[in-house]
Amino acid sequence: MPLSIHRDDLLPGRNFIGRWCEAQQGRRFDVIDPATDTVFASVPDSGADDARAALDAAHAAFPAWRAVPAKQRAQILKRWNDLIMAHREDLGRLISREQGKPLAEGRGEVVYAASYVEWFAEEATRANGDVIPAPVTGRRMFALKEPVGVVAAITPWNFPAAMIARKIAPALAAGCTVVCKPAEDTPLTSLALVKLAGEAGVPPGVLNIVTASRERAAEVVDVWLDDARVRKISFTGSTPVGKQLARRSADTLKKLSLELGGNAPFIVFDDADLDAAVDGLMVAKFRNGGQTCVSPNRVFVHTSVHDVFVDKLAARVGALKVGPATEPESQIGPMINARAVDKIERHVIDALERGARIAVGGTRLVSLGTNYYAPTVLAGTDATMACTCEETFGPVVPVTRFDTEAEVVAAANATPFGLAAYFYSRDVKRIWRVADALEAGLVGINEGALAAEAAPFGGVKESGYGREGSVHGLDEYMQMKYLCQGQL
Ligand code: SIN
Repeated sequence: MPLSIHRDDLLPGRNFIGRWCEAQQGRRFDVIDPATDTVFASVPDSGADDARAALDAAHAAFPAWRAVPAKQRAQILKRWNDLIMAHREDLGRLISREQGKPLAEGRGEVVYAASYVEWFAEEATRANGDVIPAPVTGRRMFALKEPVGVVAAITPWNFPAAMIARKIAPALAAGCTVVCKPAEDTPLTSLALVKLAGEAGVPPGVLNIVTASRERAAEVVDVWLDDARVRKISFTGSTPVGKQLARRSADTLKKLSLELGGNAPFIVFDDADLDAAVDGLMVAKFRNGGQTCVSPNRVFVHTSVHDVFVDKLAARVGALKVGPATEPESQIGPMINARAVDKIERHVIDALERGARIAVGGTRLVSLGTNYYAPTVLAGTDATMACTCEETFGPVVPVTRFDTEAEVVAAANATPFGLAAYFYSRDVKRIWRVADALEAGLVGINEGALAAEAAPFGGVKESGYGREGSVHGLDEYMQMKYLCQGQL
């Protein structure tokens, strides 16, 4: 099926390294539509030489870009935001086609992505430093913020627009230049965003992008990890890869932002508003078919409300419409690829073998295609099961009973991860107790939708470090310089 968008030139299909170009070795790789498992586009399969060329361009562009007044950088970012919003429909279709999320979600992601660009356009003009009262006479002391230098942004497939926007917008706002490698599954949206950035006035060399297949991705990234000219890595993806990046960039001591895996608990206490909790869980769990790092992966329900809650949840989950993004009524699209569905299936089979039961779902939907899995509720899950220990990244809700607050908080924290956590309660004392006790970077209290450009997004423990968005997001791309003037 052809990709119907209004502006065909939003599909440049090439790298941008100061100009649109093919990979130096001339290789390309296929982009697959997850709805049909068929090839619908191709992009350059870049290697080490392309990564080096992108870095050379970004390094050469840095002195001029950091010297551009913050207000002017802000104006360029505002124009980028406006262009993204003006092309919301095309970008939404691109996202849905290459990533698989329903079109309404694809369009919504464009707005979410633009919100970070707009936010950091405004933050660009507020990178204030400090004037420090000197402890002795005859001196003046200042703390200034300056851009770190070249940033390497390595972005995931699950939010092809939002993740690139929330890394690149603060980098450009701070005065950094960028080399970027988007996920191999979803390169097209990123290339379209870079095209619009150029139209907004981002000068050539400031924002460079190279695409690479799964086989060649490490070749590209290793060049950036090893080169001292890259001063910052911003990565969203799995914890094992995040650890590798941290290890390999240690030799050049780069600044790192790592937004890594999660294993989010979602706790429903006996005093919760159960209908609100079901609503919140549906939003948090089924956004992008469960393929989000903040997706609840372990649902704990107090034993006194457990059965009612599971019945209400199963009714809602069973009513979800699964289908390709092109069908307007689809609420859950295909998973990104067959490997993802294999993992989901493995988790469900493991849970059943260990004593869980299916309340609803529990099967591949082969009549729709190879990458579809039925939204599923598993009851009677426990901490021994793969679905509660590993991130399933799919539309499966494992529900576990609990008896006491102390027990459930201990269970929620019994994971190496600490990205998101959620709980529902109407007891104000419990709300503060549990919010304090949960080991997570983001906590939803009677709320399933956490993310916003004004909020600091990021994890603790093995979910990584660094914060994206909010008034703190710009500092991730800046370093502090202390000036002390004497003899006054
Ligand atoms: C993610 O899944 O990595 C991002 C989710 C979000 O921004 O809400």
